[in-house]
Amino acid sequence: MAQQTLNRDAFNKRASVLAVSIPAEKVSLFLKSQELKGSIINIPKTKSVVRDPSSPDKRLVLFRVPELADLCEPAQSFLKLHDVATTTHDIDLDYNFWNADEILGAVLPEELLNGAPSGFAATGHIAHLNLNDEYLPYKYIIGQVILDKNKGVKTVVNKLNSIDTKFRFFKMELLAGEPNYVVEHHESSCVFTFDFTQVYWNSRLHTEHDRLVQLFSPDDVIVDVFAGVGPFALPAAKKGCGVLANDLNPESYKWLSRNIGTNKVQHLARSFEEDGRDFIKAAAGRVWGDPFPEFTPKISKSQAKKEKRVLVSGGSRDPTLTSASESAPVSSVPVPQPKSRRQISHFVMNLPDSAIEFLDAFRGILVEPELRGAYEGKMPMVHCHCFTREVEDQTRAERDIKQRVEEKLGHALTDSMAFHLVRSVAPGKDMYCISFRLPRDVAFAKQ
Ligand SMILES: C[S@@+](CC[C@H](N)C(=O)[O-])C[C@H]1O[C@@H](n2cnc3c(N)ncnc32)[C@H](O)[C@@H]1O
Repeated sequence: MAQQTLNRDAFNKRASVLAVSIPAEKVSLFLKSQELKGSIINIPKTKSVVRDPSSPDKRLVLFRVPELADLCEPAQSFLKLHDVATTTHDIDLDYNFWNADEILGAVLPEELLNGAPSGFAATGHIAHLNLNDEYLPYKYIIGQVILDKNKGVKTVVNKLNSIDTKFRFFKMELLAGEPNYVVEHHESSCVFTFDFTQVYWNSRLHTEHDRLVQLFSPDDVIVDVFAGVGPFALPAAKKGCGVLANDLNPESYKWLSRNIGTNKVQHLARSFEEDGRDFIKAAAGRVWGDPFPEFTPKISKSQAKKEKRVLVSGGSRDPTLTSASESAPVSSVPVPQPKSRRQISHFVMNLPDSAIEFLDAFRGILVEPELRGAYEGKMPMVHCHCFTREVEDQTRAERDIKQRVEEKLGHALTDSMAFHLVRSVAPGKDMYCISFRLPRDVAFAKQ
């Protein structure tokens, strides 16, 4: 029968540690020394300096190790230089002294020591583990040790293998700590608050979120079809992009909408709770009918100063200036002109299990004459995430993805396209992102 509760008293131990006897007035020199940093004992509720019982004017400085030879080289040299007498001193150690690995090493059976899960992924205050079956009999002890030994952690959960098939969030079991699953997570200069038991979140996608957001220009309009709580949408809006963000999970929609407010991007990000297919069909009309505020590039401080200097010194009128600045004198510095934002630049579709299935919704999205005219210049990019079982050979993976995308679009992809391997999700299963320009024939197709 596996041990299910942690007996902290079992870690109480009397230990003999290395001590050096020095004059009381030298204590501060020793404690501040860089050479001894990390070697002197530093345990809660345990003194690192005690009276030397053999002399009232002397003190014993205590070290983490039993013998002089166990100290690092700089520490040994320092002690040699100061010509100190070494001795030993008994201290009482308790549970606080040991680290997570040492405690689990003492509690778990020998055969489980290799690969014992003292590490974890953290989202806000929640540490989440993915315990293999053989560790399950010890799950509460493992949870308790992780809770005890990591300051920021307030809740420890084990992710269960079942995932909500529709909205992709994980089922989880509380192992230790408070049953509080609403986390505040910081990523890409944004704060995300959400209930981890109700919505999808994966910190391992951070690099992918950053990668796509870096592709966007601040004056772009982004349509995030499967937005979750906003890890693409909010950093994009923070950058200046206009964003339509959608998620069918009412909980994701709720937190997405709140996060838009908390991150103060209400003027640039709009949230929706629709099926992805309906949302794709409506997006272009929405942006056209209700454009985003014009993007005004920020002027650098030095540029602003230059501008001011020219204005103060006076000048003739610039005929190209807008009405708001009609009486302004000519500036030698070009004033950035506002750009109208009525066209979509990028669609993001991160639902790798089935995003490709939604691509038929793009057929005819720009068929209305006014939209057709607006997009004559440049078609939006589509970034569609997907899984492939072709993991051995990238060319085969790309061929597999391209073929499935073309089938669903009902059209061949002839322009250049990009494939990005996001991560390997399981043995024999890779996640990719295919990026391509929406073919005109698809967008302008009559239904
Ligand atoms: C894999 S998650 C990605 C979330 C977010 N973009 C991210 O990168 O973390 C996919 C999201 O799609 C949402 N979803 C699932 N089916 C949907 C549908 N038919 N229409 C719109 N959203 C859907 C889920 O609720 C989930 O939040």
